[in-house]
Amino acid sequence: MKFFIDTANLDQIKEAQALGILDGVTTNPSLMAKEGITGATNILQHYKDICKLVDGDVSAEVIATDFEGMVREGEALAALNPQIVVKLPMIADGVKACKYFSDKGIKTNMTLVFSAGQALLAAKAGATYMSPFIGRLDDISTDGLGLIAEIRLIYDNYGFDTQILAASVRHTMHIMDCAKIGADVMTGPLKAIKGLLKHPLTDIGLAKFLEDYKKGN
Ligand code: G3P
Repeated sequence: MKFFIDTANLDQIKEAQALGILDGVTTNPSLMAKEGITGATNILQHYKDICKLVDGDVSAEVIATDFEGMVREGEALAALNPQIVVKLPMIADGVKACKYFSDKGIKTNMTLVFSAGQALLAAKAGATYMSPFIGRLDDISTDGLGLIAEIRLIYDNYGFDTQILAASVRHTMHIMDCAKIGADVMTGPLKAIKGLLKHPLTDIGLAKFLEDYKKGN
């Protein structure tokens, strides 16, 4: 299972990278705005800065909603660094653009996926990654994890190569449930990733080991 961090915050990316468990980064226009990164030039520079911090794939989202615009923006993003994955919205022109980039060997991430039908289309268009937003489904009392399971079944039925990238992960249990279902990738906040570390018996056990060591020395 690949671990991506879902942020445009450089300090958090550095911290996750330093743990040695990070496989990539996902961003979106909202996450960029949250860090105060605005304007095309600054956004492109920020992607370059993120690529310098990590070894893996970095998803960079297009703003255009028409095919030609997506192709133009996607090509500019892909030219920044081989790590860049062109992130495209799950609309008709996004699917067309996904097929265009797949045919050219450029990595893609179909985003804003909320149904198994959309996931099937993304796979048919040759997407590298396909991002179902599980937290946002949970927000409207719809089973986000159930969607991951449904897509896993469909992709396995046909051996699609598209990787299921569980997105809008909100907490540590989402990560564990996605791992059990077999999501290929999860992208989540640093806090959810660090939550995997925690167990009181680890802390108690370590304190006892250190105390006993001191007694004997
Ligand atoms: O990976 C998608 C993500 O950025 C959306 O997360 O928490 O805004 O639903 P959220």
